Formats: sequence, structure tokens, C-alpha cells
Amino acid sequence: MRIEIEDLHKSFGDLTVFDGLNLVVEQGEICVILGRSGQGKSVLLKHLVGLLRPDKGSIRIDGKDIVPLAEKELYPYRMRFGMIFQNAGLLQSLNVGENVALPLLEVRGRDYHATMKKVAESLRSVDLEGKERQPVSTLSGGQQKRVAIARALLQDADCLLFDEPTAGLDPLISKTVDDIIVQVNRGTGGTCIVVTHDLVSAFAVGTRIHLLDDGKVAASGTPEEIRNSDNDIVRRFLARSLEPEAGRAAGGANGG
Ligand SMILES: Nc1ncnc2c1ncn2[C@@H]1O[C@H](COP(=O)(O)OP(=O)(O)O)[C@@H](O)[C@H]1O
Ligand SMILES: [Mg+2]
Repeated sequence: MRIEIEDLHKSFGDLTVFDGLNLVVEQGEICVILGRSGQGKSVLLKHLVGLLRPDKGSIRIDGKDIVPLAEKELYPYRMRFGMIFQNAGLLQSLNVGENVALPLLEVRGRDYHATMKKVAESLRSVDLEGKERQPVSTLSGGQQKRVAIARALLQDADCLLFDEPTAGLDPLISKTVDDIIVQVNRGTGGTCIVVTHDLVSAFAVGTRIHLLDDGKVAASGTPEEIRNSDNDIVRRFLARSLEPEAGRAAGGANGG
């Protein structure tokens, strides 16, 4: 899936979140959108799936602008996205297999064995093979994230959206999640968008990195270009992220 966002504007009352944001996401890439908390990263993902509508601007998916579409016309586009929520969004009362199967169980008349076969395949892609019957409550934070990724994979989405996939995870577990994102991207050939404030994760997974600041994409480039950028906003973001209280970037554990 190729996505082209042009001149996006969005305000909530007096709060301007996007003020002429432009962004292109190429088919098959891992696009990282880096930005401090509150800069509109989650709001941007919600625009892509049509849960929020912009005040102005266009969002073209494979050339088609979805902004003017009515809810019903939007639905097929929404189905092409798989969303991995920040808190993993699993149902704690169900086991791993049931959680992964959820999107398919909603579809009536599906063959149970075919569904469980797809579940097994998805779990294998996230290195959780054979964990179908394990209660979700016994999994670590990183494993729960991977179950959420397996669930999104089952939908055969063209584009996976990751909202802060490593938030609240310690550095080692974060690395396993980063590795899975890269592995899944290579395996499916689909497009991935990762929004994060985690610099280590951004550089580990991104094929392109965009820095969101003050309602716009302030800088874009390959990880190498961003690392060596002399753009003031980039320099400040990188410096701030390397301060001790930034936790993971400085090598400190931050819980989880
Ligand atoms: N539905 C909403 N109504 C009003 N304000 C919102 C809404 N959603 C998000 N915001 C505000 O928009 C800003 C960006 O939010 P968000 O995208 O969640 O930031 P982040 O980059 O941390 O994900 C925040 O100030 C948030 O409070
Ligand atoms: Mg957010």
C-alpha cells in the first residue's frame, strides 16, 4: 500500500494538532513516525483508518483520496489496515489462540479448522508457535505485543499500524518486538507504519524516519540521514532523547 498525505490540518477546539502535514509512505517500507508525546502520532493513525476526519487536506491510499468518502465507502479501505494498539488490546479472559482468531471468528460460516490453521501460521510468524492454549494473562508484555501482531497478520492487512510498540517494555523485550516488526515486514512484503518516541526502536526498524513536530513533518530521511542531520529540530530531538531520564535510549531500564 502506498499512502500520500498532503496538507493535512486538524484541530480540536483551540488545539491545533496538524498544521499542513505532508507525508509519503511507500509500498513495503517500514515508515517510522517519531515525535514527542502529544505531537499527534496516535491522531495520525486514526486519520489513516478513518476514525478521525481532517479539517482539510487529502489522504490518498494507492491514489484514492479517502477524505471525502462516506463511512460505507471507507470500510473497504479500513479493512486493509491492521492496527496494533499501544496496550496490545487483548482480551484477558481468552487464550492466545482465541485472541488471534478474533477477527475471523466474527465472520460467520468460517471453517473452524481453516481458522485455527491460520492462527497457527500467524503465531509462528511472531515466534509464538504452539502457544494457542496459553492464557493471555500469563504472557509477558512483549509476548502480548506479539500476539497482537499475530492477530493483525491474520487479517491479511496491506498495511500494519503500530502505535508505540515498545512503550513500557524494557530494552531487551523491546528488541524482540523490534525484531518481529522487521521479520513480519520482510515476510509479508506489506507496508508498516510505526509511531514511537523511542529512538532506539526507530533506528532499529525504520527504512525511513519522519520527525513529527509542531503539526508538521519537520524532517524525513533514512536512519543514516536522520542520525547525521544538521536540522535543528532533529538535533534537539536526538539530544533530548539521549538525556538520562529518557530511559531506554540511555540504556536504562524503564520498567516492564
Ligand atoms: N478526540 C480528541 N479530542 C480532543 N483532543 C484530542 C483528541 N485526540 C487527541 N487529542 C489531543 O491531540 C494531541 C495529540 O494527541 P496524540 O495523537 O494522542 O499524541 P501522541 O503523539 O502522544 O500519540 C494531544 O494534545 C491530545 O490531547
Ligand atoms: Mg499516542
